[in-house]
Amino acid sequence: MNNVTILNHPLISHKVAILRDKNTDTKQFRELIEEITTLVTYEAFKDIPTVEVEVETPLEKTTQQMIVDDSVAIIPILRAGLGMVNGVHSLFPTAKVGHVGMYRDEETCIPHEYYCKLPVGIANMVAIVLDPMLATGGSAIATIDLLKAKGVKHIKCMHIIAAPEGIAKLHEAHPDVQIYCATCDRQLNEVNYIVPGLGDAGDRLFGTK
Ligand code: PRP
Ligand code: URA
Repeated sequence: MNNVTILNHPLISHKVAILRDKNTDTKQFRELIEEITTLVTYEAFKDIPTVEVEVETPLEKTTQQMIVDDSVAIIPILRAGLGMVNGVHSLFPTAKVGHVGMYRDEETCIPHEYYCKLPVGIANMVAIVLDPMLATGGSAIATIDLLKAKGVKHIKCMHIIAAPEGIAKLHEAHPDVQIYCATCDRQLNEVNYIVPGLGDAGDRLFGTK
């Protein structure tokens, strides 16, 4: 599928195995989400626009490509997307952060927006949506709808675990959006949880269950 990258790297796979384990505690879960996000970020930033700048080394003047400050915004979907923010900032600390609050109705799985605060100038930035879980795709699609309504033209999204159903639905709704997933699981279960998955990402990150 065009615009869909599943990383499936041995280093990522190793960390995802520990992440999935029901005995992994909140502290380690949080650290792993950050570490895996950093590895996915490396791939997702591959085609971020750069400009040539002049640098003076101790030996001579040269030119080098750099990412322009203010050109990238990360958009964590609350709550679980918050766990991925430090993972991007560890590689690109000047990325602006916009927050979108979505919760999935437990019965219908329809996403409901409850918060939105985006950086000034977002329409001209590359927006990277962060959410560890891409299940039905509803939360990611609603967030991207919202960003496009604000004029954002270049959007990527990063996930740790995706369901094939979510990837297909997101790709169908927004074929222009580049999707990066650490791994893709078997399917959704009867209550739209990803299986084998890792359970509820927000609860495991924040110790709420
Ligand atoms: C979870 C998860 C995603 C969403 C994925 O959030 O963090 O945002 O479900 O499901 P979808 O692809 O079917 O929309 P949840 O609504 O449980 O909120 P939380 O992050 O606050 O726990
Ligand atoms: N949200 C989660 O946190 N986990 C899933 O498996 C599906 C949605």
